[in-house]
Amino acid sequence: MKKIIRNGTIVTASETYQADILIANGKIVSIGKQIIEKGVEEVDATGRYVFPGGIDPHTHLEMPFGGTVTKDDFETGTIAAAFGGTTSVIDFCLTEKGKPLSQAIKTWHDKSKDKSVIDYSFHLMISEINDRVLEQLPEVIAQEGITSFKVFMAYKNVFQADDETLYRTLLAAKELGALVMVHAENGDVIEYLTKDALQKGQTEPIYHALTRPPEVEGEATGRAAQLAGLASSQLYVVHVSCKEAADKIAEARSKGFDIHGETCPQYLVLDQTYLEKPNFEGAKYVWSPPLREKWNQDALWNALRTGQLETIGSDQCSFDFVGQKDLGRDDFTKIPNGGPMIEDRFSILFSEGVLKGRISLNQFVDITSTKAAKLFGLFPNKGTISVGADADLVIFNPTSKRTISAETHHMAVDYNAFEGMEVTGEAESVFVRGEFVIKNKQFVGTPGSGKYMKRAKYGEMMTVSDQVDTVRSE
Ligand code: URP
Ligand code: ZN
Ligand code: ZN
Ligand code: ZN
Repeated sequence: MKKIIRNGTIVTASETYQADILIANGKIVSIGKQIIEKGVEEVDATGRYVFPGGIDPHTHLEMPFGGTVTKDDFETGTIAAAFGGTTSVIDFCLTEKGKPLSQAIKTWHDKSKDKSVIDYSFHLMISEINDRVLEQLPEVIAQEGITSFKVFMAYKNVFQADDETLYRTLLAAKELGALVMVHAENGDVIEYLTKDALQKGQTEPIYHALTRPPEVEGEATGRAAQLAGLASSQLYVVHVSCKEAADKIAEARSKGFDIHGETCPQYLVLDQTYLEKPNFEGAKYVWSPPLREKWNQDALWNALRTGQLETIGSDQCSFDFVGQKDLGRDDFTKIPNGGPMIEDRFSILFSEGVLKGRISLNQFVDITSTKAAKLFGLFPNKGTISVGADADLVIFNPTSKRTISAETHHMAVDYNAFEGMEVTGEAESVFVRGEFVIKNKQFVGTPGSGKYMKRAKYGEMMTVSDQVDTVRSE
């Protein structure tokens, strides 16, 4: 059924204005004052912002990691995302050396297709580069619309790739029109520091942070940036946690390198002291890169405000405290890395960013949605409010207050890293391609209704017909 969203304040990355939005067949068909149309469902948005749906470019749903599997899958994870105002996710598809890429991609389709309640796509991990892999990449782009490749510079003997692999991935990506993403930490040095710590009997969660100091992130970020410059390729640094790394990105950008950076809510709000919580609670706050000394937060906010960092990913990678995080009770290296963040990414950035005057309302939209759509080949179908775009929309009450808690969140895990934190601003209704997924704070979506998104090549615009899904038929 057609819908009209009335009297809301539409906010895009560049404009703020009051108008009605007419939606038909999943698309925005008209934007204007007092649209008159018969046979439509009227949705009142008086006193509310209408934002483009959030795009979370960094999730790990149902991902095997550290001897266990992330707790939130494509169903619970995307339901939680929708509650938070996110209408698309791009998840990391893991690959294994020597195995066909198509097999890994099929595994990810099987995990997601009957479960996701919002639209989704995949980044592809590159674990090795050789003739066989290079032969498969054009097809990955053409058939799957996967136009971003992820290289890990850390997690030695697990995911870590060497510099030759990174460099050759950058060259291939330039040629094929893909964006290379890096987890930038120096895995070799971390390996040495962690072994050294364990030998000294330093087993508590805080040593996770102390064995991955900012220098190892800054060094790897700078190295990746230099290699991207040498290859004249394009690079996206995920989960930037500290000033050292943000500065390396800014420096490379000042030289004209095509380099982009993402940070995450946890680095903007939490700090290294959380890892020192008693009774092993510090394990809840184990991310890689780790939480940093608090002063780094100002540097990260500043980088977002000045555009040196451009996006915010949740890095959703959730593990229960009981039964998963506690695998590392006697050895911090066995604590599965990551946390539950998909639900609160959007509202934390609004509450801590917009309402505290650190970023503007339009920057908020850019950072949570538009920039990711542009960098990852979804724009202008996703990431903005314009005629012809998908009607992925959030009706957001900017004054509503709530306290974040595991008791009330929708993620499948037994804790929330922001437990007890009060945030202002809340998604009340959320539409994916014109259908309610959240209606007046109630979930009304359907698992499997989310569509797989094929993405345009790096730097190219998505056309409406490109994005018709061939994996699922209507
Ligand atoms: O600690 C983290 N970030 N876990 C998720 C995997 C990754 O490195 O992104
Ligand atoms: Zn990572
Ligand atoms: Zn660029
Ligand atoms: Zn991640």
